[in-house]
Amino acid sequence: MYTQIQNINLDETLIEQLLKAKDYLTDNNIVAFPTETVYGLGANGLSEEAVAKIFEAKGRPQDNPLILHISSLEMLKDLAICNDDVFKLAKEFWPGPLTLVLPKKENVPLAVTAGLETVAIRMPSHPIALKLIELCNFPLAAPSANRSGRPSPTSARMVYHDLRTLIPLILDGGACDIGLESTVLDLSSPTPKILRPGQISPQQIQPFLANLADYQGLPKSKRPSAPGMKYKHYKPNVKIILLKDLNKIEDLLTKEDSLKPAFIGLNNPKSKNDSLKKLIFQNPGDLAKNLYSLFFKLEQSLFDLIIIEDIQDKEIGLALMNRILKAADRIVE
Ligand code: TXA
Ligand code: MG
Repeated sequence: MYTQIQNINLDETLIEQLLKAKDYLTDNNIVAFPTETVYGLGANGLSEEAVAKIFEAKGRPQDNPLILHISSLEMLKDLAICNDDVFKLAKEFWPGPLTLVLPKKENVPLAVTAGLETVAIRMPSHPIALKLIELCNFPLAAPSANRSGRPSPTSARMVYHDLRTLIPLILDGGACDIGLESTVLDLSSPTPKILRPGQISPQQIQPFLANLADYQGLPKSKRPSAPGMKYKHYKPNVKIILLKDLNKIEDLLTKEDSLKPAFIGLNNPKSKNDSLKKLIFQNPGDLAKNLYSLFFKLEQSLFDLIIIEDIQDKEIGLALMNRILKAADRIVE
């Protein structure tokens, strides 16, 4: 299958530019599009035939449910059972990077929810995503537009790398603003809990939900402990080490004997190693925005080691450390 990349400009012709994507989606085909978090791989979320194509293109396990992306609260009401908390959170955080898991209504296919009686829903704020859903007038089921197990794409180029020949169209809206996937908040049981941290932090959600469970972090079983015991997720084909003490970088570089090492962090580590490529960011938000695209670029340029600085796990740092821990082969204290 030929994969077209269509450049989209945010101007008064936006609707005309999106008509081709709308036609594809209406015909049960899949289209990749930008959101404020990462690129999504969209299909008509009410069509089992269309949703099946997402699982096939991604190589995604059938038991991993999808998020439905909506453009209005009317759509929400058709898809899920909502209480007052839902509308309060929607008013505060939508459109934006918050996904709510809610009891589903009948018209949501079980193919979307992987057989669950709950459905994940989010209203994205990216103008291309929002306008596309509005034009389609049906919810778009959309996981991140990567092959299963790879880092989420934050540019059209990354989508193309993973999914070329597998999908007909990629809408190119430039780099994603946030760069990490949305916060997933489960409201389907009596005690709401965060299933995946994102830019919207537990502290921001807490005032709206008195009984929000404390965020527990990654389960022990999914943290890297010994070499080789990695949780395969968000992972480029490069060895990744989380370094807790930057003073130990020289020591680490000697031991690892890497030919092409890179460092990603907020502070400039002291190292005499000339081959070390340093990628230093002003703040955790900038690092988050660039993390996946750096994974991609470093992999493409055949780096053989990425050392990442330990970052304080508050605000966006919580989401950042969650992704870094999942990608890391090893932690060096
Ligand atoms: O920012 C995002 O959320 C991006 C953009 C494209 O919107 N999407 C995204 O989708 O990250 P995906 O499929 O890569 O991740 C969705 C997460 C998965 O961890 C999935 O297991 C969880 O949401 N999820 C979906 N439906 C669920 C449900 N009913 N109950 C619990 N978790 C659910
Ligand atoms: Mg994903």
